[in-house]
Amino acid sequence: MSQTNDTAGRCPMGHGADPATADATEDARGERIVAEEGAQLDFESDMSYGDYLHLDQVLTAQHPLSPDHNEMLFIVQHQTSELWMKLMLHELRAAVASVAADELGAAFKMMARVSRIMEQLVHAWDVLATMTPSEYSAIRPYLAASSGFQSWQYRCIEFAMGNKNAAMLKPHAHRPDLLAQVEAASRAPSLYDESLRLLARRGLPVPADCLERDWTQPYVESAAVRDAWLVVYRDPKRHWDLYQLGEELTDLEDAFRLWRFRHLTTVQRIIGFKRGTGGTGGVSYLRKMLDTVLFPEVWALRTEL
Ligand code: HEM
Repeated sequence: MSQTNDTAGRCPMGHGADPATADATEDARGERIVAEEGAQLDFESDMSYGDYLHLDQVLTAQHPLSPDHNEMLFIVQHQTSELWMKLMLHELRAAVASVAADELGAAFKMMARVSRIMEQLVHAWDVLATMTPSEYSAIRPYLAASSGFQSWQYRCIEFAMGNKNAAMLKPHAHRPDLLAQVEAASRAPSLYDESLRLLARRGLPVPADCLERDWTQPYVESAAVRDAWLVVYRDPKRHWDLYQLGEELTDLEDAFRLWRFRHLTTVQRIIGFKRGTGGTGGVSYLRKMLDTVLFPEVWALRTEL
């Protein structure tokens, strides 16, 4: 039977309306909202969103080298990680300075932010894990010897957290500007070094060789430092802010460990036991890094409590 008027066959509630009319109505609604809300639409002489964020530079910095569709994921994942690392470093440096200046409230705020960024980066591995081994193999020849191992920001973060290692300066020798930054991070007391100096200022029995030393050298675990932390943890009410400091450090290292672990498992599912582009054994190297302990005594004290 033929339909004789223009509503025939349509839902009386208006669902399934003529698509052209529906689009026009939606357009009109969208335009009305923009007009009603007073959004600024002319940026001839004002700074816009893209101007403020320098999006022209940020969004034209992706240059795939292979013809493979999936390389964009690989690039964006690394670049966004580096941006988050930039913020982490900014917060970590300020947190170290705040602990040194006995401004613990500010330090806790920044340390909590670094932990949340790290958690965000832990979840980011889920996106990269959508890359299959064959997809990565299509990109691999174009990466040459470039690897996250050469991330100078990551090295500065590791150093600020106390994982000093002179060998990690070498990949930056060809870039004196970056080397200077990594060297500065290596020479500076870490967040943990400053935390121990704070414990000492509060009268806790931290050994003198933890208070002034060659900060470029890796921190060595000590039973005396564990005992100093134990004084705090056995009487939290009396040492509340130091107790909170211990827990913020634990949060930070916990999140860092998760990041290392997800890196390892993501790498293993993508390249198996092949060597890394940076020249290490790959998974075997990342497994060794998983054993890194940044703040050994804040973990060790728990066994003694
Ligand atoms: C398909 C993706 C990835 C693969 C196959 C991979 C593989 C590896 C391997 C094998 C290493 C050891 C060094 C080497 O020989 O290359 C490494 C180190 C590293 N990667 Fe990745 N990675 C991937 C993604 C990422 C992403 C997204 C980041 C974020 C920035 C990243 C950051 C790092 C860092 C910082 C190191 C140094 C770790 C350390 O020295 O403890 N990687 N990666």
